[in-house]
Order: sequence, then structure tokens, then C-alpha cells
Amino acid sequence: MAAKRRAGLGLLGYGNIGREVYAYYRDGRRNARVVRIARRRINRPAPQAVKKLLVRRAEQVIADPATEIVVELTGDAERGAQYMLDSIEAGKHVVTANKEALATHWREIMGAAGRRGVSVGFGATVGGGMPVVRAMQRHASTDEVESFAGILNGTCNFILTKMKEYIVTHMDDPQIQKRSLPLEDALAQAQRLGYAEPDPTNDINGFDTKYKVAILANLAFDTAIDPADIYCEGIWQESQRILASDFYFLHHPRYLDGKYALRLAGIAERRGGRPALRVHPALIDTGGALADLAGVTENYNGIVINGRRLGRQFIKGLGAGPKPTTISVASDIREIAAGMSKPTKGGSQAENSGPPVPGARRGPALADVRKVRTRGYIRSVSPDVKGIYAKKLEILARHKVNVQSVVNVKEFLYGRDRFMPDYIEIDPAPDGAVRDVLRAFRRLRGVRDPMYFRVLEL
Ligand SMILES: NC(=O)c1ccc[n+]([C@@H]2O[C@H](COP(=O)([O-])OP(=O)(O)OC[C@H]3O[C@@H](n4cnc5c(N)ncnc54)[C@H](OP(=O)(O)O)[C@@H]3O)[C@@H](O)[C@H]2O)c1
Repeated sequence: MAAKRRAGLGLLGYGNIGREVYAYYRDGRRNARVVRIARRRINRPAPQAVKKLLVRRAEQVIADPATEIVVELTGDAERGAQYMLDSIEAGKHVVTANKEALATHWREIMGAAGRRGVSVGFGATVGGGMPVVRAMQRHASTDEVESFAGILNGTCNFILTKMKEYIVTHMDDPQIQKRSLPLEDALAQAQRLGYAEPDPTNDINGFDTKYKVAILANLAFDTAIDPADIYCEGIWQESQRILASDFYFLHHPRYLDGKYALRLAGIAERRGGRPALRVHPALIDTGGALADLAGVTENYNGIVINGRRLGRQFIKGLGAGPKPTTISVASDIREIAAGMSKPTKGGSQAENSGPPVPGARRGPALADVRKVRTRGYIRSVSPDVKGIYAKKLEILARHKVNVQSVVNVKEFLYGRDRFMPDYIEIDPAPDGAVRDVLRAFRRLRGVRDPMYFRVLEL
């Protein structure tokens, strides 16, 4: 009986994911095997079998004739993208988990792969082990994707979940402010549990979600989006910081009583044939059409995809972690390796019979998100001085933003000057007008931390 053909894998990276991918193929029972591994610090402790495969330079792995599929797991946006392009140029298939590299170099990578006739597997770039990329590819190829909204960053979701839990547990404590969990402490907890990177900047400023939205939107709308064009707010930067009082306002029975869950969301919708894309903290109605998404807590990810004919689909799962992510990597490898072992006309190794390579064309320009009508709550913090609310209301009127109600959260006072947060509920208004209101609030003397909590509606 002929020996089973096993595709040769060249791993770029032996970190959290690279180690797990190596372990997955170690027993030799799969349809691929690891033939070479690159990492920067090859003198670090590693099993003898790994040491034999280790080289310092990614180029050596790519050039090795035994490498048929390059598995790019470096996490380096620029070098990672270059390695993928070099691999494609050398006629090798590519599998990657590197969302930043892929999102920021989509056109070059997909264009090169299409020309060279090789496959690019990238299921692990969005949602860890969840089959989000596959679902989006299927929806996009057979139906029309109208919109999607996802909780795509486990670190942010974990932080928001823990901050809320603290508030809800100590809701009736008169010392509630002292009992609340500041963002920094929630982040430290995430890092201790291994959910957040040592440098979590890209997670908490929303960039990680932005790259994932770009990749999914490229599939959904058959385009090639520059992630820099996506409107993005995170949960951490100055003037985009989530405060403990926000959870008190959202969950105390005296105020919104848990009507909404606060999540960092990546949102895409078709508006007049153009994709409108945004990333920001969003309020999701816990009893509404997106309740499934509102129920995604801890370090889980979730996404709702609205297809024209398929209707609404919801996927939830572990969006990161070595084991789930390895499943996505392995699933891409399996598909490519299966295609490789099929007889091809020319018998060439590069002949692409794996997953289809998505398009690389630049589709229609993005819709102007400033024109999208959103509603929600504007939070700002100000000292209790005469006339301050009148000034805020005057600004709102000037920008034609209608006010439903204004609520002071008296249980929370910040600093010696006793700054107090208030929440202004507004009717639907163009998003740009609300952002102009926030800019004007920032210029008001004594007013701090204006932030807009949009209600998510699809
Ligand atoms: N961690 C997750 O849960 C997760 C989930 C989904 C997707 N991802 C993505 O998967 C990728 C890998 O993540 P990770 O957590 O495994 O990262 P990591 O632990 O930092 O590992 C990166 C590995 O790549 C090596 N490396 C970096 N630059 C290199 C270069 N220029 N040449 C050769 N080797 C290089 C590093 O070498 P040294 O070992 O010598 O430092 C290390 O072994 C990233 O793109 C990440 O966004 C991660």
C-alpha cells in the first residue's frame, strides 16, 4: 500500500500558536508534518525534536524544498506580510493567523496568490477557533451579506465583563465607588489569566477588532479595505475610557436596569451599495433581536451575520488561545493538503486546488460613517456648577441633536472637586453630529470625559 502523502509544513514562529501547531502534528497521524521551524531566539529551551528543525531566518524555511505550506505565525505585521509574499512568489501555499499583516496587505497578498495560483488560508485570523471566516465566505459566495456585528476581541470582552460583575455584586453598597473595579485592574486580571498580551495596546484601542472587521468586510463585500479607513474607538484612550459609573448607570434598577450590555463591537453594513464600517463600544439590547450577542461574556467572541436570504446567523466561541486557534490553522492546512494530493493536470505543486483565493480588487469606497444615524447616551463628567447643563443642552440644540432625558449618577463623584457623571439620552442623529457635540463638550470649562455610547441596531 502506498505511504500516505503528508504535506510539508514550514512554521514561521514557535510562540504560543507555533508551539501548539507543532504539537498537533507531532504524532504523525495527520495529513501534514512539520519540516522546518523559524524563530528569532533559537537557543531558547525546546525539545530535541524541535531543535533539529529550528532555524533563525524565515527565509530558510521558505526556501527549503521540503516546505510546501508556509504557516506564518510570527505576529510581526510588516515582516509577516513580506514572508507571505515571498512564500507565494516561491510557489508555496500560505496559512496565517496574523490578522494585522493580512488586513494591512490584503490586496498585495491576495493579488499575488491569485496570479501565482496558490492558496491562502486565514481562518485563524478572526475568532480563533470559531469558523467565522468560513461562514462569511459561504454567505458571501452564495448569498449577499447585508450586515454583520461582532464581539471580536476577548481581552476587551473580559475586561468589560469583570467591571460589570464587580458593580452588580456591590450594587447596594454605599461605598460603591470604592468597590468598583477600575479598567487597569480588570486588564491586569486578564493578563494574569493569559487572556491579554503583555502589550495589550492593539486590543484595548480597538485596532485588533478593526483588522478583523477589515478581513471579514473584504469577504462580505468583495473588496479590499485599508483598515486605516475604518472608524475606530476603543475602551481605553483618553476620552474613550469606560468608567465604573457607566456600569452602575447601565445596571442599577434606578437607572437602565440591565437593559443593555456594553461590548466593544465591530460593525459592518451596506449603505447604498457601500460598506459602512465602524468599531466602538456599543450598547446591545439584552431583550432585543441581538440578545445572543449581548450574552457573549468573559473572553468569548460572537458574531451575528445578516444574509439577504439566509437571514440572521449567530456564532459564538473561544476567539483566541493556542488550542482553538490551532484548530483553525489545522483546518486550513487540511483543506490545502487535500487539494495538493489530488492529481493535477500539470502535476505542479503550486496548482491551486485548496480553498478559493478571495478577490483583491478595491471595491466601492467606504460609506461615510458620519452620516449613519445612531442613538444612545452621551456621558460626560462635570462639577455641580450653575449653568453647566444649560451649556451642554445648548450645544446639543446647535447640532440639532434631540435630547430624551438627562440623568445624574449621584452615587459616583470623582476627585476633590466632586465631579459627577451625567448621561444624556439622545434620539437618532447623524453620528458625525454627535461627534461634533462631544468635541464641543470637550472645550467646555470643567467638563471631562465626554463619551458616546451608541445603541447597536442592525
Ligand atoms: N495567541 C492567540 O491566542 C492568538 C489567537 C489568534 C491569532 N493569533 C495570531 O497568531 C500569531 C502568533 O501569535 P502568538 O501568540 O503565537 O505570538 P508569540 O507567542 O509572540 O510568538 C511569535 C513567534 O514568532 C517568532 N518570530 C517573530 N518574528 C519573527 C521573525 N521575524 N522571524 C522568525 N520568527 C519570528 C517568535 O520568535 P521567538 O520565539 O524567538 O521570540 C515567536 O516564536 C499572531 O499574528 C497573533 O495575532 C494569536
